[in-house]
Amino acid sequence: MDLTDIEALEARFNGELQACADDRALTALHDAYLSRKRGHIGEIMRQLPQVDPSVRGAVGQRANALKRRVEEAIEKRRAELAEAAQQAIVDLVDVTLPGIRPRRGFIHPISQTRREICRIFMQMGYSIEDGPELDTEYYNFEAANIPRDHPARDAQDSFYVTDDLLLRTHTTPVQIHAMERRKPPLRIIAPGRVFRRDATDATHTPMFFQVEGLVVGKGISFAHLRGTLQTFAHMMFGPDVKLRLRPSYFPFVEPGAEVDISCFLCKGNGCRVCKDSGWIEILGAGMVHPALFDRVGYDRKEVTGFAFGMGIDRITLLKHGIEDTRLFFENDYRFLSQFRS
Ligand code: PHE
Repeated sequence: MDLTDIEALEARFNGELQACADDRALTALHDAYLSRKRGHIGEIMRQLPQVDPSVRGAVGQRANALKRRVEEAIEKRRAELAEAAQQAIVDLVDVTLPGIRPRRGFIHPISQTRREICRIFMQMGYSIEDGPELDTEYYNFEAANIPRDHPARDAQDSFYVTDDLLLRTHTTPVQIHAMERRKPPLRIIAPGRVFRRDATDATHTPMFFQVEGLVVGKGISFAHLRGTLQTFAHMMFGPDVKLRLRPSYFPFVEPGAEVDISCFLCKGNGCRVCKDSGWIEILGAGMVHPALFDRVGYDRKEVTGFAFGMGIDRITLLKHGIEDTRLFFENDYRFLSQFRS
């Protein structure tokens, strides 16, 4: 071996370097020349002892110089490739264009109301109960004391999936599920979707939201119901709001009432929202019918209870003075973004 061998190796390296188009090829080239055990330059170093002593020094120096040059050349080529890749991206992307700002999501107004209602009742010690949206006739009607001939059971008003299964028409069946699952005392609210086959108009949609409340225990009275709803109305609509209960009929309560609040917009003077009556109906309520206790195995001589149910959509409409509930479901960003909190 002599100097010409090293020159030949260098020429070969230069050619191979030019052929390297990416990082992986460069790494392979690096190993082929510089790997201690298998590299070409290492091989020269190993053969040095057999070289003619008169040229050994020169050959050794030349080999070392080649080693440094190979190292530098590979690094230089690596940097060039990286620069070229960067430039390719810059050519592709116009970094001076304005960015596209992603729109931040926010809570739907109906969900905001639901959360507010839940928060108020949770402060009063209620826990949140969940129930199935698809339920049996038994839970939706029978156990809630709604007899076979009741108009609400008509297939015209409910979405039946099978003869026995329907989309719940109210959240009242959650009362039954909750009582079957637990022993009294009980203090729950159950928010959720309900479904009715109403024609869609400004105040009706086939799906809407209710919150059901249920309290059962020893000595629970109508006064507790009234006090609870009064507290709720104050927290929800303001401290000046008055409550009015009108006798009404729901098969699952006795006595039953419809509950109005004094109009929080006109303070009772008459306006568009209260239709000049000064009062706004917000919910149905009453004392739990003892027949419900019988069905779930509660002792009607031991416990009494009250229940109420309200429409979340309706309360949201009222709070914001909105006239058409369909707006909530059209998902027009311009409408919904007004309720960004
Ligand atoms: N379930 C009744 C409705 O959907 C509301 C209600 C619930 C009334 C509880 C009284 C007691 O209209």
